[in-house]
Amino acid sequence: MNKIICITGASSGVGLATALTFARNGWTVYAGTRNLERDQAQFATEGNLHFLEIDVVNPDSIERAMHVIAEEQGRIDLLFCNAGFGFIRTLGQASFEQIQSVFDTNVYGVMHTIRAALPLLIKAESGHIIATSSVGGLVGQPLNEIYCASKFAVEGLLESLATYYKPLFNIDVTLIEPGAIETQFVKTALDQVAATGGVLDDEYKPIVETYIDMFTKRNAVSQTPESIADLMLELTQMETKPLRIRTSEAAERFVNHKVQEDPTGLKGIAQTRKIQLGLE
Ligand SMILES: NC(=O)c1ccc[n+]([C@@H]2O[C@H](COP(=O)([O-])OP(=O)(O)OC[C@H]3O[C@@H](n4cnc5c(N)ncnc54)[C@H](OP(=O)(O)O)[C@@H]3O)[C@@H](O)[C@H]2O)c1
Repeated sequence: MNKIICITGASSGVGLATALTFARNGWTVYAGTRNLERDQAQFATEGNLHFLEIDVVNPDSIERAMHVIAEEQGRIDLLFCNAGFGFIRTLGQASFEQIQSVFDTNVYGVMHTIRAALPLLIKAESGHIIATSSVGGLVGQPLNEIYCASKFAVEGLLESLATYYKPLFNIDVTLIEPGAIETQFVKTALDQVAATGGVLDDEYKPIVETYIDMFTKRNAVSQTPESIADLMLELTQMETKPLRIRTSEAAERFVNHKVQEDPTGLKGIAQTRKIQLGLE
C-alpha cells in the first residue's frame, strides 16, 4: 500500500526537499504551497507529487486541502507541519501585529493543520505527525525571543499531544530540531528587517548589528534541506519514533545542556503518561 504524506510550506527549503525526496521514494505527496500554479508547473515532475493551496494562516485553505486528500486517498500516514519563518526584532521593538503574524504562522498554523488533518491521521491507523521546530524551540536566543517563543509553543503543543495520541490513536509525534539550514529562511528574515526600517537607530543597535553579522555568516555551519529530507525518510523507518530529534551535530551540541537527560524525549513522555494517565 502506498503511503500518503501532507506537507505545509513545501514551496521551498525543507518542505520542498522533503516533497521531492518522498515522491522519488514512492510516497504519494500532497505539498502545500501559497504559489500553486508556479510550484505545480516547476516541481511536480513526479506523477505522485501533487501541490495544493495551503496558507496555514487561513484555516479554510487547510480544510479544502484535507477535503481533497480525503476524497482521493481517505487517509494521511504522515503530516509534516513545516511552514514557518524567522523573525529578528526584539520584544521592545516589534509591533504587536508583527508578533501576532509570527504566532499566526509558526504556532496557530501548526494547530490549524493538526486539527484539520486529525480525522485522516486517525483513519491511517498508524499515523505520524512531525513538526519543524528548531534549536530555538529548546534554547532561547538573543533578539530571537519572538521566534523562539513561537517554537517553544510548538514544542509544548507536540510534547503534550505525544503523551496521549499514541495510546489513544496510534499516532506518533515528532519534533525535528534543526540548527542552521541553507534555505530562504535567513533571506526572508533579513528582508523583513529591511522592509520595516532596517536596523533601527536605538539602544539595541550595537547588539543587533553584531547579531545580524553572525546570523548572515551562519551558512558556514549549516546543513542542506536535502539532508533533513533524508532524515525524515529515516524517521518513517524507525520502529520507535523519537519525540524530538536534532538534525545535525551542531544542533545537538547547541542544545545538549537541555536534552542530555532525555535526548529523544521518550523518557519524559513515559513518565508523564504514568503519572497523569496511569499508563505503563
Ligand atoms: N533555515 C533554518 O536555518 C531553520 C532552522 C531551524 C528551523 N527552521 C524551520 O524550518 C521550517 C522551514 O523553513 P526553511 O528553512 O525551509 O525556510 P524557507 O525556505 O523560507 O521555507 C519556509 C516555507 O514556509 C512557507 N510559509 C511561510 N508562511 C506560510 C504560510 N502562512 N502558509 C503556508 N506556508 C508558509 C514558505 O512559503 P512561501 O514560499 O510562500 O513564503 C516556505 O515554503 C520553518 O518552520 C523554520 O522555522 C529553519
